[in-house]
Amino acid sequence: MSIEWPLRYAAKDGRQIIIRHAAYGDAPALHAGLLEVAREGIHVGIEHEGVGDLPAEIKRLRRYLTTPRMARLVAELDGQVVGAVSLKPGPFGNKDRHWCSLEVWLAPASRGNGVGSALTTAALAWAESEGFQKIVTAVFGSDDWAIALYREFGFKPEGRQKEMFILPGIGCVDNVLMGLGLGNGSQASL
Ligand SMILES: CC(C)(COP(=O)(O)OP(=O)(O)OC[C@H]1O[C@@H](n2cnc3c(N)ncnc32)[C@H](O)[C@@H]1OP(=O)(O)O)[C@@H](O)C(=O)NCCC(=O)NCCS
Repeated sequence: MSIEWPLRYAAKDGRQIIIRHAAYGDAPALHAGLLEVAREGIHVGIEHEGVGDLPAEIKRLRRYLTTPRMARLVAELDGQVVGAVSLKPGPFGNKDRHWCSLEVWLAPASRGNGVGSALTTAALAWAESEGFQKIVTAVFGSDDWAIALYREFGFKPEGRQKEMFILPGIGCVDNVLMGLGLGNGSQASL
């Protein structure tokens, strides 16, 4: 089923959240937002040095905008991009073409207002519309908030790699792998 973009959701504070596909014009906001979250050092794997400059962001974005079955969706609040979700299929091509991965970041000032839920709802709709049978994500074991969000959407923990990361101010944390079956393709039948 095709999706009529943009999708609109009500934020907890009553404002409107708009979720749409990213465009090249979003690159500066995507770059600044990812840099801010990377600098926190405790939510996303990428280091702030690894975010690179604006051309690096444009290069990352181009891949999402030009590759079939990949998507980067952005969340807008009051006309500003405040978060994004990146979706891409398994890396090998055939054996793992039935699932996609989900990676979210959200600006600190916009957390707790329903934007993460809106991004996840739109991401699941996109993944189903592309025919994916499963969606997966990986979360730091210390990230109770993200784990709670994904659980609410039905993701189940599927594994835990012990002591995979050392986070500033937190210490050693596990990598929690989470997955959700989509459409008619339950994980049990894969
Ligand atoms: C995790 C994250 C994506 C959630 O998005 P969000 O917009 O803040 O969350 P929402 O407001 O949509 O709430 C979704 C659920 O998160 C949890 N949550 C919300 N606010 C919370 C808070 N202050 N503390 C703990 N959990 C909270 C609740 O389970 C909530 O469900 P509810 O609305 O039914 O209570 C976002 O907070 C975030 O980016 N956090 C830091 C970075 C991060 O962890 N990124 C994900 C890496 S995988």
